[in-house]
Amino acid sequence: MKLLDKSFEVFISRDKIQDKVLNLADKINSDFFGKDVLFISVLNGSFMFTADLMKNISIDSEITFVKMSSYVGTSSLGNVDQLIGLNHKLKDKSIIIIEDIIDTGITIDKIMNLLSIEGAKEIKVCSLLFKPNSFKGKYKPDYIGFSIPNAFVVGYGLDYNQKGRNLDSIYKINELC
Ligand code: IMP
Repeated sequence: MKLLDKSFEVFISRDKIQDKVLNLADKINSDFFGKDVLFISVLNGSFMFTADLMKNISIDSEITFVKMSSYVGTSSLGNVDQLIGLNHKLKDKSIIIIEDIIDTGITIDKIMNLLSIEGAKEIKVCSLLFKPNSFKGKYKPDYIGFSIPNAFVVGYGLDYNQKGRNLDSIYKINELC
């Protein structure tokens, strides 16, 4: 399979992803039974995972979507991170952040830092993919679909220069081409 200048091969099939998503939803349904849960889906990459996961969530819950953004502040502080789209009150809620992939862990650390000041009761992270060999962060995901090696992957929401998000399987870059 080719996307722009790179070639990719199937890495995790559609069926394996769907089985894993069901499995993750089951665990969340039992761990959070009876709690007041707000899912926070981090766009863009997690849109497909979020849709499939949420179809199998049976606990009473709400969902909202955010985007990480960075702008150059007016002071000497340099870049300032912000979460766009967060308009729910987090106070006393159980939060589950939905991510597509956690690689170095820098993004999830920033998100956790921004959310932890909002007074949530607990914050857990659910990521479909996790690259343990490149992870240097503070917050390891609580729910992991697949731990994968450090190869670049696309599909099922993940992109290569904005291409490939629509694919229903996950593909790995073919280093030999
Ligand atoms: P972080 O290194 O954990 O902060 O991940 C930053 C972001 O890099 C993720 O949210 C993804 O958007 C992107 N990313 C990391 N690894 C991959 C990959 O293999 N394919 C596509 N995007 C990736």
